[in-house]
Amino acid sequence: MNSVVAQFSAVVIDGTIHMRVLHARSSGESTSSLSRREFLAAGAGGAMASLMPNAAEADPVSAATQQTDARAVVDVVLTVNGRDHRTAIDSRTTLLDALREHLQLTGTKKGCDHGQCGACTVLSGGKPVLACLTLALTAQRQQITTIEGLAKAGVLHPMQQAFVDQDALQCGYCTPGQIMSAVGCVTTGHANSDAAIREYMSGNLCRCAAYPNIVAAIKQAQPQLRKDA
Ligand code: FES
Ligand code: FES
Repeated sequence: MNSVVAQFSAVVIDGTIHMRVLHARSSGESTSSLSRREFLAAGAGGAMASLMPNAAEADPVSAATQQTDARAVVDVVLTVNGRDHRTAIDSRTTLLDALREHLQLTGTKKGCDHGQCGACTVLSGGKPVLACLTLALTAQRQQITTIEGLAKAGVLHPMQQAFVDQDALQCGYCTPGQIMSAVGCVTTGHANSDAAIREYMSGNLCRCAAYPNIVAAIKQAQPQLRKDA
């Protein structure tokens, strides 16, 4: 029965050991290399498995640390709408999932979950950020504002009121993100013209195409927001 002789290289990337077959041949062959298919059929999986502990042994601290960190449950304190929230999360949790799944603040919407639609926009330190691209861990010690934090004492925020007045929504799914970006548009000084507003708001997509009304809402709210600043 032929046995398999193989050479491997091993690298650790993001806590995962990646094996690469450099060369493999059966003991009965003198010169030719085994094909990938032949090698796998001969039990390469078992050979690779037996080599994995060796790779970890080469740098046990590094391998263990990287694997542990990727799965770690960590305690975080998120300051959202002026209130501290303590929760335990997987270290890979996004701010969007932390808000929705851990703090039950579901006003912030998940659209694409890939940073392309703007539905998840919240304010961090007064500036719009995409919660789906922000790790919750990195949002600690930031003042996070979500759509739930805009109205005060039962009175709509001027931007919320303007969206209602200008009929700046249809299905409403994009609206929380639109409103948070709209607030940022005004407070960061990017609402001086229709073109400037459209440019600033271009990262917030609306499938219902309420764009003209959204621009109108921002123009309506701008004087009040500047007065309140
Ligand atoms: Fe974050 Fe789409 S859900 S950008
Ligand atoms: Fe429907 Fe914007 S109001 S997606």
